[in-house]
Amino acid sequence: MIPPKPPARPDKVSLGRYMRLFRQDILSAQPARLYRAWMAEFKTPFFRSFLMNQPELVDEVLKQRPDDFPKSSRISEGLRPLLGDSVFLTNGETWKRQRRIIDPAFEGGRLRDTFPAMWQAAEACVARMQGQAGQEVEVEEITSHAAADVIFRTLFSLPIEHEVASQVFHQFRAYQREQPILNIAAFVPLPRWMPRFHSRKTKATAKEIRALITQLTTEKMAQIEAGTAPDDLATKIMTTADPKTGERFSTQEMVDQVAIFFLAGHETSASALAWTLYLLALYPEWQEKLAAEAQVLGAPEFSVMSKLRLSRDVFREALRLYPPVPMMVRQATCPERFRDREVPEGSQIVLSPWHLHRHERLWDNPDGFDPTRWATENGKKCQREAYMPFSAGARVCTGAGFAMVEGPLILSMILRTYRVERIEGRDPVPVAHLTVRSKDGIWLRLVRR
Ligand code: HEM
Repeated sequence: MIPPKPPARPDKVSLGRYMRLFRQDILSAQPARLYRAWMAEFKTPFFRSFLMNQPELVDEVLKQRPDDFPKSSRISEGLRPLLGDSVFLTNGETWKRQRRIIDPAFEGGRLRDTFPAMWQAAEACVARMQGQAGQEVEVEEITSHAAADVIFRTLFSLPIEHEVASQVFHQFRAYQREQPILNIAAFVPLPRWMPRFHSRKTKATAKEIRALITQLTTEKMAQIEAGTAPDDLATKIMTTADPKTGERFSTQEMVDQVAIFFLAGHETSASALAWTLYLLALYPEWQEKLAAEAQVLGAPEFSVMSKLRLSRDVFREALRLYPPVPMMVRQATCPERFRDREVPEGSQIVLSPWHLHRHERLWDNPDGFDPTRWATENGKKCQREAYMPFSAGARVCTGAGFAMVEGPLILSMILRTYRVERIEGRDPVPVAHLTVRSKDGIWLRLVRR
């Protein structure tokens, strides 16, 4: 069985129909030719956007000339009330300075220090699942809880049960329900002058979340000043001075960063883990291999990660088939010529992990689930040139290394104790919300081993 793929729309539809389809789901609003095209243009009455699928073009935009293709301001508009000037939205000098302060906290060595906190979150997840054994469960709910726990424990040394942490988690859920689609502003053919209203409720929720995060950050600052702060990611970031200017983040600026770490770090990992569990229910022979491999888990030592190879290959394959961030948008700051086509200044450049990862002219068996592909010539070449679940180049996800430890670890911990089984007639249908999610959740039967 091929893992679920959303139906493509017919090649030609009216603009009105396209917009309606788009509102429902970005993935099924696209025509099937995008799985074969190197580049495609979406013409709308107000602006032009170009999807880039050719590895050389993606490389040029993300790796060779990132400064000429900054983040599209159309995306920032939608997220500004929640994220302020966070590293996810800024461009130019501000962004460069923020990355200089944040990046050291996510370096390889620090990952090792963060590992015990991740381990505890994984154990807590398995313990919470105990009451659900034998039942049909919605796994996005489970993985979302687990990923949020990882963020609070690694960033603030707080478990998700902590009162403020738990409030942040629940408020974020409310926020996402109110504003389900992250990238929509970038495609929807509305002119720039048309105001985009945030509902009063969305704004109020964003304000509450920010107040809670401000509380955590202020408390952390007090601990740092008193010399009692635990050595976690927030402490590291807040005590790191920009090597160029010597400045540190103000509390306000740190609040912006914490908001994005939470949002970017928990929704994405939760989505990836939930899809991986579903794929394993679809391919029980792989699930058994991972459960056997998970027997190596003993003491919480970082070195165990090098033994969870199959878990890593499977997680990587799930990120290929269901990249949590399905599309990214940049803006051309000067006129370009790509594949003999004029790309005017101000055009939206769409990079689509979703289409690139299933490109029919690049991948062997593009829609199939095959974790052994990473050892093949085609898999290796495509991993270098056509695989970007974490984006690529200067703006690559800061949490990529973190996520590649967290994912396989939680997966192995769960499978050591439980088996997940597919429920006939309840296969998930992927749709792009804030991340790639399933239309009605991902339901599986949980069985204790
Ligand atoms: C499976 C998990 C994850 C996936 C698939 C993922 C994917 C991505 C992608 C595709 C981007 C680039 C978005 C764009 O250019 O528009 C990004 C950016 C970012 N991610 Fe992740 N991410 C994951 C986990 C995390 C974690 C765990 C953290 C932090 C704890 C994190 C923090 C960030 C930040 C701060 C950025 C902005 C970087 C910048 O613009 O300079 N992510 N992520």
